[in-house]
Amino acid sequence: MKVTNKMTRRKHIALKDSDRVFVLTGAGISAESGLATFRGSNGLWAGERVEDVASPQGWQRDPELVWRFYSERREAAAEAVPNAAHLAVAAWERSLGDRFFLCTQNVDDLHERAGSQNLVHMHGELFQSCCDTCTRAPFPDTELYLSKADHRRCQCGGRIRPNIVWFGEVPFQMERIFSELMRCTVMLVVGTSGVVQPAASFVRWANEHHSCAEDLRTYYVGPEHPANAAAFTQVFKGCAGELLPQILAPSGRF
Ligand code: OAD
Repeated sequence: MKVTNKMTRRKHIALKDSDRVFVLTGAGISAESGLATFRGSNGLWAGERVEDVASPQGWQRDPELVWRFYSERREAAAEAVPNAAHLAVAAWERSLGDRFFLCTQNVDDLHERAGSQNLVHMHGELFQSCCDTCTRAPFPDTELYLSKADHRRCQCGGRIRPNIVWFGEVPFQMERIFSELMRCTVMLVVGTSGVVQPAASFVRWANEHHSCAEDLRTYYVGPEHPANAAAFTQVFKGCAGELLPQILAPSGRF
């Protein structure tokens, strides 16, 4: 673990008035809202072959299976409510204003429903659809497509698909994400296994590109060490809903 001489292990994330915060969240932050994570014995990928439901090839082979998978995700997310971790992140944003940026790998809308505003869904949004053929803008869509009879076509003749970034596709808004990474001085990563690129490399990238590496502090929160744990200044071990309300100190408590 990257611990510099000047760093002491802290019980909360202390901020200076000059700090800029970059938060990256993964499936773990929604776990206490009852939404399944991807990896692990009870994870979504234990019951599905990733390449069948989360790749352009899987979509070409069997769009019915893909839509059934994402319709089930829509049903689960619609029933879920934001937990204490989502609320703590939103409260942190309110206290920091434009010194805060949230990048989520999650496709659910629990951050928005908790009050987060300055956020990017790098892997897309569950409650949006788009055309698999033309450049029509993604549109809000809460429908369930449980059988082939429900499927829809775009005006161009293409098929309507979930607006989700699948394996082999480029995540959304990478330019904005990297520009926020460049200028942050505090990075908080919550509930992600640290194996899916490019998000898994954000912490290493921030460490390498930060203009004043001594000033950068990077933190991870989750019940187990992520694959990239060694890159963090400090790992807070525990569930996000329990830990985040305690460790997200308002600006000025350094
Ligand atoms: P994973 O399922 O890989 O990892 C979830 C992480 O959350 C694990 O490290 C758990 O330890 C942690 N976790 C579980 N419960 C938690 C809790 N209560 N509080 C905090 N952490 C908890 O999910 P991601 O890393 O988010 O992409 O997965 C990354 C991407 O892989 C997803 O966005 C998805 C998937 O394939 C696409 O579908 C494109």
